[in-house]
Amino acid sequence: MKTDKSNILALLRDSRDYVSGQQLCDRFGVSRTAVWKVINQLKEEGYQIEAVSRKGYRLIESPDVLSRSEIASRLKTKWAGQCLYYLDETGSTNIDAKRYAEEGDPHGTTVVAEKQTAGRGRRGKYWESPPGTAIYMTIMLKPKFAPDKASMLTLVMALSVAEAISEETGLNAGIKWPNDIVVHKKKVCGILTELNVETDYIQYVVIGVGINVNNGAPEEFPEEIRPVATSLKIESGLQISRASLIERVLDRFEQNYDTFVTTLDLSRLIEAYSRHLLNLNAGVKVLDPKGSYTGIARGISTTGELLVEKEGGEMVTVYAGEVSVRGLYGYT
Ligand code: BTN
Repeated sequence: MKTDKSNILALLRDSRDYVSGQQLCDRFGVSRTAVWKVINQLKEEGYQIEAVSRKGYRLIESPDVLSRSEIASRLKTKWAGQCLYYLDETGSTNIDAKRYAEEGDPHGTTVVAEKQTAGRGRRGKYWESPPGTAIYMTIMLKPKFAPDKASMLTLVMALSVAEAISEETGLNAGIKWPNDIVVHKKKVCGILTELNVETDYIQYVVIGVGINVNNGAPEEFPEEIRPVATSLKIESGLQISRASLIERVLDRFEQNYDTFVTTLDLSRLIEAYSRHLLNLNAGVKVLDPKGSYTGIARGISTTGELLVEKEGGEMVTVYAGEVSVRGLYGYT
C-alpha cells in the first residue's frame, strides 16, 4: 500500500542527485501539480528539500518524523508492515491491532503510534508512552500453527529487535530472557505478546514493541523505572531515525519469522539468539512464586525455555510467564 507521497519520498531518499519533476511524474504516472503538492506537504512536515530550476529536487535532511509515508517509503518487506496504520495518538497499539485483526486485516498488519494514552506493559503494568522520542508499534499475525507454539514468537521478536538495534546503532543489544532488550545493563525495549485463541487454533497474535529511542536524559523516564531504563540515544550519543529502526525491526522480524515457521521451533535461530543472550554461562536468580533459586544460565532450549544449571549440576527448564530471572546483582 504505497502512496504517491511515500513513493516520491523513497525515490528522493534513494537518489544522491537531483530528481527532476518530470522524472517523478513519469515514474509514478502523476501530474506536475500532484508532485508539487507532495513536495510542499513534505516541506511542511519538516523535510528539507532543495528545488533547483532545470535540475529538480534533492532531499537534504529528513526530520525524525513518524508518519505513514516516512515508514512505508522505506519498507522492503513482503508482508510485515505492508498493511500499515500510523496514528498520532491512540490508547494502545496492541488493542488497535486486535481490532484490525477482527475486521479482517491480513497477517503482518502493523500499527505505529506517536503517543499512547493507555500503553500496556507485561503483568498488567502501565507503559508510559509520551510522544516524540520512542517507538510504539504492534505487528499482528494470523499464524496457522497450534497455540502452544505461540510463546516462541516473543523470542523471535526479541531477537529481531536486538538485531535491528545493533545494526542501526552499533550498540551491543542484549536479550534479557525472554524478551527485554538491554543496553549497558539497562532496559531499552519491552515486548508484550497477546493471543486470541479459539479452542485449538490461533485466531490472531499481536506482538507489541516499545523502544526508548531518542530520550535525551534519564530524568525523562518515570522515577520508578529510572534505575533500570535507558534509551538508545543516551547509550550511543546518536540521534536515531525511528522510522529507519522500525523498518529494520520489521525486516528482521519477517526473515526470522519465516525461518521459525519452517521448523516451528527455534532450532535455526538459537545460535543468533544466544549471541545476544545476556547472562549466558553466568549466575542468575530465578524468581519463581513457588520458591526462588540461583544457578548458571546455560542457554535456551529449542522451544524457548531458559536452561539453568543448579548447584550440584541439576539442569532446570525455566518457563516464561510467572517466573522472572535476574542477574545475581540487580536487574540484569
Ligand atoms: C513490558 O512490560 O516490558 C512490555 C511493554 C510493551 C509496550 C508496547 S508499546 C507498543 C505496544 N502497545 C502497548 O500497549 N504495549 C506495547
